[in-house]
Amino acid sequence: MALDPDRTNVIIETGTNVGTTAIIIAQAVIDSGRDAVVYTVELDDEIYAEACRRFELAGVAAVVRPQLGDSTEFLERIVPQIEEIAIAFLDGNHLHDHVVREFELIVDRMRPDGVVLFDNTALIAEGDEDPRVHGALRTIMSRFGGNLINLPFCSWYTPGMAVWQRQAFDDMTPPVPGSFVSGSSASVRPLS
Ligand SMILES: C[S@@+](CC[C@H](N)C(=O)[O-])C[C@H]1O[C@@H](n2cnc3c(N)ncnc32)[C@H](O)[C@@H]1O
Repeated sequence: MALDPDRTNVIIETGTNVGTTAIIIAQAVIDSGRDAVVYTVELDDEIYAEACRRFELAGVAAVVRPQLGDSTEFLERIVPQIEEIAIAFLDGNHLHDHVVREFELIVDRMRPDGVVLFDNTALIAEGDEDPRVHGALRTIMSRFGGNLINLPFCSWYTPGMAVWQRQAFDDMTPPVPGSFVSGSSASVRPLS
């Protein structure tokens, strides 16, 4: 997807940790020359303080809007004020109900070609253990539909990253000429 040249693009991350991904996204925004803000929310106040320090050090503080608190409370407050979300990375509390609740809170504001990213998607739960992100993706697909690509060999333990998008690749009209690489749609397979 592309950042829209005609508006302020909103990017949301839940689970800032020390800001590594937020810094990478913010630097990409700066490099793109497009107008965007990166909201990122962290529950732990010491980790939050360290992330804020790193945003300053990395020179991306003007683009990042760090928030301290629980991600669902943050999303309940901020999402109604946002017209459209371009990218969301749900990477805070990875328990099933929390991930599904975060998704519920953002899904109606996602751009049709916007993407929701998930980390740690592999099934690690045994027996009655919480099915975590893997189970949340099953719930999300059954309740909300859309398109999901799971990349099982990406990321550190727990492995797996996934990308959700409402709009199918074949239905997309590039908002900006040349902003998409041509090619066939990726096949969408069930999570194993
Ligand atoms: C896997 S780390 C995030 C890594 C980060 N997204 C990155 O890619 O650099 C998860 C973080 O989420 C935070 N967290 C856990 N539950 C949360 C909640 N309910 N709201 C906000 N942050 C939460 C944890 O304190 C931890 O720092």
